[in-house]
Amino acid sequence: MGSKEIVLGNVNEDAELLKAHAEVYNHLFAYTDTLALRSAVELHIADIIHSHGQPMSLSQIASKLESPSPDVTCLARVMRMLVRKNIFTVDCNQSSGEEVLYGLTNISRWLLHDHELSLAPMFLTFTHPWIINAWYEISSSIKEGGTPFEKAYGQSFWERASKDPEFNNMFNIGMAAATKPTLDAVVKGYKDGFSGFKGTLVDVGGGIGRMIAKIVKAYPHIKGINFDLPHVVGTAPQYPGVTHVGGDMFKEIPTADAIIFKSVLHDWADEECLAILKNCKKALSQEKGKVIIVDVILHADGKGLFDDAVIGCDLWLMADCVGGKERTEDEWKKLLIEAGFTHLKITPLPTIMSLSIIEAFPQ
Ligand SMILES: C[S@@+](CC[C@H](N)C(=O)[O-])C[C@H]1O[C@@H](n2cnc3c(N)ncnc32)[C@H](O)[C@@H]1O
Repeated sequence: MGSKEIVLGNVNEDAELLKAHAEVYNHLFAYTDTLALRSAVELHIADIIHSHGQPMSLSQIASKLESPSPDVTCLARVMRMLVRKNIFTVDCNQSSGEEVLYGLTNISRWLLHDHELSLAPMFLTFTHPWIINAWYEISSSIKEGGTPFEKAYGQSFWERASKDPEFNNMFNIGMAAATKPTLDAVVKGYKDGFSGFKGTLVDVGGGIGRMIAKIVKAYPHIKGINFDLPHVVGTAPQYPGVTHVGGDMFKEIPTADAIIFKSVLHDWADEECLAILKNCKKALSQEKGKVIIVDVILHADGKGLFDDAVIGCDLWLMADCVGGKERTEDEWKKLLIEAGFTHLKITPLPTIMSLSIIEAFPQ
């Protein structure tokens, strides 16, 4: 590549240039936010403070770590970063000689391990080196094609999950934790749809079955099937009113009166989605059947709370899934019309990650 001389001017005399220089450093070290927080989640720091019932000093926190000789200086530096990012509070109003006290914020409360709606498993999964390694292959995938994850590991994400029980378990638990806080919104947001529905509802790619279990619990007249790959349903707990069925959605989907997907179609390129949707049409037992898609709608210029995270998730899908992507409303409509669904209804849910319910009717 030929090089041209680039004149950047004197960074010390040009405030805009200095600001841009600082931005490069901020981007360079942006990963330290994520990984400092990961270390705090691994160390259960929020749980330690929560169990104590009030803010704690560094030495008190250190004494509760599962370690005979923790490095308190290192811990202090991680906590300084996390206080700066509003993950923990610090009370510096101690009398001289007393140690400062660290407390929880709402952000760290979401990361308490024992909390019913804990996001800790999700955070640990999606920041795991197994997941992040694929990111180092993005530029070569852009140049040569192929999926970054496959370049890194010589197999697809789902193949790896089928062969490596530890990876499978980590992903299923992390995904279930990401899904759990959204379920109330799904159950309530689609109240009319579920209460008026009769028959069998199949959750395709339902993971360990949390969503269908919650739906059947709220609407016990629904017969629930959780359908996923055999190694996934093999690890799922039993839930009243839910039958687990192992299989491959590219081969056959169990017969259903309606089919629901949550965060499944975004894992796949349009071509694969068309194959899955074709199997849905075969599986729907009657003309009244429908497909209910609970998934993200991407707003490229959105200023909403989750719009940055959605763009990040889109890149995550690019790195780790074969052809996976977040779709705009127009892209969803195009895909479903191409799959032969003539009637669509999109209802945004007041919930995390810009989730919507997209109903698609084959007639
Ligand atoms: C992103 S996860 C979503 C899990 C769940 N629906 C949720 O929202 O928590 C995608 C799911 O699709 C499943 N899956 C992948 N390939 C599949 C296939 N060929 N047939 C059935 N399920 C599949 C995965 O095992 C995984 O549980």
